[in-house]
Amino acid sequence: MPIYFYPEKRIFKLDTADSSYIFKIFQENYLVHLYYGKKIPDTNLTKFHDRCVNASFSARNANWGEAGPSVDVMPMEYATNGCGDMRITGLQVRNADGNASTDIRYISHNIYSGKPKLPGLPALYANTDDECTTLEIKAFDKVTGLEATLFYTVFEKYSAMTRSVAVKNTSKKAMEVEKIMSFTLDLPTCDYDLYTLWGRHNYERTTEIRRLAHGIQGVTSRRGSSSHNQNPFMALLREGASEDYGDAYGFNLVYSSNHRCEIEVDFNGSSRVIMGIDDSDFGWHLTPGETFYSPEAVLVYSSEGLGGMSRTFHKLYNTNLVRGEWKNKKRPLLINNWEGTHMNFDDDKLLDIAKWAADIGIEMLVMDDGWFGKRNDDKCALGDWIVNEEKLKGGLGHLIERVKALGLKFGIWYEPEMISPDSDLYRAHPDWCIHVPGRETSLGRTQYVIDMTREDVRDYLFNIMCDVLGNNDIDYIKWDFNRNISEAGSALLPPERQKEFFHRFILGTYDLMDRIVKRFPHLLFENCSGGGGRYDPGMMYYSPQIWCSDNTDSIGRLDIQFGSSLCYPASVQGAHVSASRRTNYNTKKDVAMWGSFGYELDPAKISEEDKAVIRTQIAGYHKYYDLIHNGDLYRLIPTWADPYKAAWQFVSEDKTQAMVTVVRKHHVRDDSLFVRLKGLDPDTYYRCEENDEVYSGALLMYAGMNLTFAINRGDGQSLALHFEAIE
Ligand code: GLA
Repeated sequence: MPIYFYPEKRIFKLDTADSSYIFKIFQENYLVHLYYGKKIPDTNLTKFHDRCVNASFSARNANWGEAGPSVDVMPMEYATNGCGDMRITGLQVRNADGNASTDIRYISHNIYSGKPKLPGLPALYANTDDECTTLEIKAFDKVTGLEATLFYTVFEKYSAMTRSVAVKNTSKKAMEVEKIMSFTLDLPTCDYDLYTLWGRHNYERTTEIRRLAHGIQGVTSRRGSSSHNQNPFMALLREGASEDYGDAYGFNLVYSSNHRCEIEVDFNGSSRVIMGIDDSDFGWHLTPGETFYSPEAVLVYSSEGLGGMSRTFHKLYNTNLVRGEWKNKKRPLLINNWEGTHMNFDDDKLLDIAKWAADIGIEMLVMDDGWFGKRNDDKCALGDWIVNEEKLKGGLGHLIERVKALGLKFGIWYEPEMISPDSDLYRAHPDWCIHVPGRETSLGRTQYVIDMTREDVRDYLFNIMCDVLGNNDIDYIKWDFNRNISEAGSALLPPERQKEFFHRFILGTYDLMDRIVKRFPHLLFENCSGGGGRYDPGMMYYSPQIWCSDNTDSIGRLDIQFGSSLCYPASVQGAHVSASRRTNYNTKKDVAMWGSFGYELDPAKISEEDKAVIRTQIAGYHKYYDLIHNGDLYRLIPTWADPYKAAWQFVSEDKTQAMVTVVRKHHVRDDSLFVRLKGLDPDTYYRCEENDEVYSGALLMYAGMNLTFAINRGDGQSLALHFEAIE
């Protein structure tokens, strides 16, 4: 087992292939963190590593006397509020007396194979029990009767672990959970660069790098979604480390709503990392006997730099997060009509697109927004999930029959969590939209948000969706979410529970998604939120694909795809070739191939030459599908390292195939384009498909290739090279 407990020293050691994580039960049963980093064989972390020291001005446990250690500088395993620790903390519970001092101490633990489920929440899972090991620590606040369980599951093979926390009220009076982070982690130094993913609609998950500084830094969302703006991800790269070498830590929250991901560098130079539900508009009224579960966070350590960290996330998510029939099944090559037609389509138009698509070898037609109610623009009809037979003459079944006769699969768009003020549903149930009594409800894209905290609303949505999904031969669903939440309130929640709204909302969404994926296990699910507004591991648990961004311009996409690759695998990334601006169809294809590939255009609006180029791209999609979906990603020239060019590489797990893509974003005279390949076998010889020459892996990696003259001059030009091992 990779989790050890040494009773004499009262030390826990959690090992993976590349990392060790160590903490101990200290005096007075405080849980104290000792180490997280590159794997070490021993646990002798007491004498020269002791961080349980005395600090001037800081409070200390009365039993330890004036010279004793101060909780304020001790590396706490799970930091709590109000009992001497003045840093950002993980847990704050206001007890029945009205104060919020919270202090949990170790009482027992349990180590076992496998991983428990998190009730109502998405989480990583074990395919077989021997794949991971779990440690549960029970800790107790003897003053309030709050019992906390700290969960640690170690995925030994992947150098990854998950952490989450559950709190139970064992007292006879209600308590208010005001803050509950999924983990806290105290690192001894602050010599790190912090990587986060900021963005906006059309420009999601762009990498931002800053040096840790004293005080609090990090990312949050208060939008009711994980957001376009600040993804629930942080990485720390140790001083001197890089893309390929050195200590890298990645933290990612499996949650799709308001989050807080922070690091505080303290006065003694230590760094505390916290991650969990954002607590600025959160609370949970915990009644006697009730348990509250935090979402879980994923922690990855790599001694092979940022690249090693990313590849660990990718493998872990492909194996232990994404689920269902489509987890390992080849995804159909799709065409979506949105950018081609918007809502201006009917069955004839869709059939025209389908005929062209079938002829060139595309495998699925996705009918986007505009097929239901009176929806001819984005100002009405969300909630009226009934087929518009004026547009789809003869009904949806008739359209699908004709599409299927062409040999294509069929997909459909939904936005279940929304309700238009101009809809039959809103006229019948005005209280179903989230709102605050007496206050005007704000609009976003002329729509309100439906109250997913309500079971009756979820039942309505489930049934009306089943009418369409169950009675038609549908293969795919695109599930959208196109605004942030404001005036957060539910007509059914009592005042003391309104602060639970945001968390209950996302639990409601997860519940409906779960019911849909269980009722229709054959459906391929593609999540979307105005592109990548909910591009997070919570959604990936239901949806093996997520529409990466509404920005389909290949150059704009590069920042987004590189940023996303810090922790999210290519298999999840919905990436389409569209008619949008700037680059030629070769570059569009090369960029969109880094993901779950497809097209998003109206063939009637593009030239015969471009259509001829597209026809030649289909074979490549099939040929390199496995390499991209299951191979290892290496960032050769990340967008954050060079403003003019970018390069990346996929290598198959057995190192027999590789694909290198380079893009000249902006052409500047005399800028050389030199790449050194990565991840190959130095002793193997590889044939380059494009020039039929043979090179050793060593040559390609150590001498590299000068591609300056192989790639066309000009902005937005690209080149993809493919290498195959020879016997
Ligand atoms: C969002 C999505 C688009 C499209 C539209 C439809 O913006 O990101 O791909 O589905 O909604 O309204």
